[in-house]
Amino acid sequence: MKNFLSVHDAASIDTLIERARAIKADPVAHGATGRHKTLINLFFNPSLRTRLSTEKAGTTLGFQVITMDMAGGWKLEFEDGVVMNLDRAEHVKEAAGVLSQYCDILAVRSFPALEDRAADYEDRIINAFKKYATVPVVSLESATRHPLQSLADCITIAEHRRKERPKVVLTWAPHPRQLPQAVPNSFAEWMTAWGEVDLVVANPEGFDLAPEFTAGAEVLHDQTKALRNADFVYAKNWSAYADYGATTERPDWLVDTDKLAVTNDAYFMHCLPVRRNVVVSDGVLDSNRSLVLEQANNRTWSAAAVLEALLAG
Ligand code: CP
Repeated sequence: MKNFLSVHDAASIDTLIERARAIKADPVAHGATGRHKTLINLFFNPSLRTRLSTEKAGTTLGFQVITMDMAGGWKLEFEDGVVMNLDRAEHVKEAAGVLSQYCDILAVRSFPALEDRAADYEDRIINAFKKYATVPVVSLESATRHPLQSLADCITIAEHRRKERPKVVLTWAPHPRQLPQAVPNSFAEWMTAWGEVDLVVANPEGFDLAPEFTAGAEVLHDQTKALRNADFVYAKNWSAYADYGATTERPDWLVDTDKLAVTNDAYFMHCLPVRRNVVVSDGVLDSNRSLVLEQANNRTWSAAAVLEALLAG
């Protein structure tokens, strides 16, 4: 694997899942994989899980890990051909080249602005690092995708499925803030590419994800119908793709125990952070059907499998 920006970079999802589970089963045995190698993590946006799990994955494999917060004032220019006489100190061409001198793998987190759909869906920041870095680049969540989260979600489903081909429902849920589409885009893309689950996406009218991410899934605007006989229910809010960045108040889409009564005793999933009793009720989150901490745990092993595959080339 040369880079890890989307599911399209993964030669085999099953192999990544197998490698993640093998490292998870015996982390100490993999401590020499990244010896004398350096991983640099660049964060243009804040993180709890992605930052700590990727650092833990790197150190578990023996990497030296350096994390830099880019939101703190070091401003990069991403436009080509501009006169750089304002506040951006350095062009990504030099920055990516310089960082490539200091590391063997470069990982980047950058969120969308949610103002201009075309600009966000160019995924300019992560693609600029891919273009100008001379080392493999990993997405720690970009404007359009969150592949390390999606791989962790695949691992979690593989560990908990009770039938060969479970029904997985990705349901939109309410949230007080405007959120990106990266997690649901990526989850839908990985589930359909994996091909081992039946994916149903449920969201209010006007909140369909971009069709290229949900191709192969059933898209419904009736949450109760979608949840029927589900084996896994993955809740997530996202802002609109069509009326780009628009939000809506729909408290009736909150996931609670009554909603889950029509499922096949489904497991509940969420990437976290989650707003309790806005997105999902305490009753669901605190129940033995909740896999949210398993998902967070699997972020480490997902990142470890990806770092290992990138070193292998
Ligand atoms: N799920 C996830 O990416 O969490 P963070 O934003 O804390 O990294």
